Amino acid sequence: MTIFVTGGAGYIGSHVIVELLAQGYDVVAADNFSNSKQEAVWRTRQVSGADFPFYEMDICDVDGVATILTAHEIDCVIHLAGLKAVGESVSKPLEYYSNNIVSTISLLTAMEECAVRKLIFSSSATVYSGDNEMPLSEESRTGNCTNPYGWTKFMCEQIMTDFSKAHKDFSVVLLRYFNPIGAHSSGMIGEDPQDIPNNLMPYIAQTAVGQLPSLSIFGDDYDTPDGTGVRDYIHVSDLATGHAAAVDYLDTQSGVSIFNLGTGKGASVLELVTAFEKAAGLKIPKKIVARRPGDLAVCYASTEKAKRELGWEAKKTIEDACADTWRWQQNKQRDSTHV
Ligand code: WQD
Repeated sequence: MTIFVTGGAGYIGSHVIVELLAQGYDVVAADNFSNSKQEAVWRTRQVSGADFPFYEMDICDVDGVATILTAHEIDCVIHLAGLKAVGESVSKPLEYYSNNIVSTISLLTAMEECAVRKLIFSSSATVYSGDNEMPLSEESRTGNCTNPYGWTKFMCEQIMTDFSKAHKDFSVVLLRYFNPIGAHSSGMIGEDPQDIPNNLMPYIAQTAVGQLPSLSIFGDDYDTPDGTGVRDYIHVSDLATGHAAAVDYLDTQSGVSIFNLGTGKGASVLELVTAFEKAAGLKIPKKIVARRPGDLAVCYASTEKAKRELGWEAKKTIEDACADTWRWQQNKQRDSTHV
């Protein structure tokens, strides 16, 4: 089976490709390097010990995508390409709506033209409304998104659902990611933000190596055990096995299927910082500042449906993720000084 991975040079994409190759799938990948680097493709090949065709292209190029789908006889598409910074989406809404939605419509158009009928989509816990009780299940309310990024994921889910209703032979799995963290255990691939990180883990990692002066903890007055925000942090390698499980699932399923990809456990900001300090053997300079507007106090997944229907569950811990992130960060630091 040959799988086309969009966003294949990205943080999630590189880890998904490593897992798919390890499970014996053939992979073709594409990326426009808007938030990733060519180097990630080389590193992914090195970690996998396998080669795969890669195309630098924009998924909005319908003819370009159709050429790939036909030439490589693609059986299934995993659509990871997209802009994903919540804060940036608030300041650049048109860029997010244009990029994330037009690329999805373009991909579906090419898939329709080429009769490629299986799709796995990188969705997000941000599609859930903020007034749900925890844990979030796949039946929890969605919509009322608090930022354009979340709305693009919500709208893409709707577009795929409507497309599936119009094409009974089309199957799609919507994977709602919680908080991906960590890096491949080899230390060769990991999260490599192009600018100052928005997310907690890469910010901690860059503070640990002195790239950033100090971590600001956004509020310690939430109704949580230690007052800091609680999230469901899932190791990116577990996220990757979740995608492989979705590929298997599509062999026998049709229509639209939705699954949370999380651990089912919450961890606070201070718990993650403490775990990282232990893994790295150092103290992270930190200070408590005001809450970040729009943040929830607590957000974590119910993982029952993925366990029952995908036969998948996360196996790695936040301690594993901290150790793997530290290894990756040190390698990155070493490589950057060798330039
Ligand atoms: C986690 C916790 C912050 C940074 C976002 C997107 C979501 C998904 C994951 C794409 C919160 C606290 C953070 C910092 C801090 N991305 N924090 N200092 O907001 O849960 O989710 O990223 O799909 O869609 O919404 O992740 O890592 O930004 O924050 O104290 O410098 O860390 O307040 O409690 P978030 P995050």
